[in-house]
Amino acid sequence: MTKIIIAIDGHSSCGKSSTAKGAAAKLGYTYIDTGAMYRAVTLYFHQKHISLTNESKVLKALDDINIEFRTDKNGKSLTVLNGVTVEDEIRKLYIANKVSQVSALGAVRKEMVAQQRKMGQKKGVVMDGRDIGSVVFPDAELKIFMTADPDIRAQRRQAELMAKGDLMSFEEVLENLKKRDHIDSTRKESPLIQVPDAQVIDTSDMTLEEQIEMVCIMAENEVKKLASAA
Ligand code: DC
Repeated sequence: MTKIIIAIDGHSSCGKSSTAKGAAAKLGYTYIDTGAMYRAVTLYFHQKHISLTNESKVLKALDDINIEFRTDKNGKSLTVLNGVTVEDEIRKLYIANKVSQVSALGAVRKEMVAQQRKMGQKKGVVMDGRDIGSVVFPDAELKIFMTADPDIRAQRRQAELMAKGDLMSFEEVLENLKKRDHIDSTRKESPLIQVPDAQVIDTSDMTLEEQIEMVCIMAENEVKKLASAA
């Protein structure tokens, strides 16, 4: 069976990661969470007190960073930074508040994009992020742009944070989301854009199961198209 690259880009907290993960599991593809990679870099910079304006320190730090994904016994994908599982730490609000600044650095993006291309070279991947269809895999067979109403995204994010013990007001979460959307969409380096050949999914009124199903149907259609063109 032909395998393709599925690039899912879109705003923060509209369900990209859960959808990408679910679709990858159903299709037998590998899921790659590129946001987790930028979050892991942010955690490392935080731990080592790397100033974002100190270019040589940033470059040296990038050399010292190794990011991998492992799967635990329940099938959950874990982000591993230099041998240590950081999956829970990178989801905390202090990382969310800093990650947009870190991911706006050209040197950081260059390194992450190179690693992401390597991870996807054999196809059969679902990769989610902000620049997957535009920069990392501009030739991806299926490009999806996901979005949802900001209030709904903030509600979902607040519930997620609460489940992890981070108690945040709705306004605070909404502000963080809007700030991240703004930085992600207006930065100089690979801003979040909706590429013309992307198919849009608005998840405001959709369940996770419906989102996964939609991505799988889109993927099957692309594979069929490729088979009939061959
Ligand atoms: O998807 P996420 O919320 O975990 O991503 C965290 C941050 O990383 C987000 O604010 C933007 C950045 N990011 C990026 O710039 N490029 C990507 N491919 C993925 C994420």
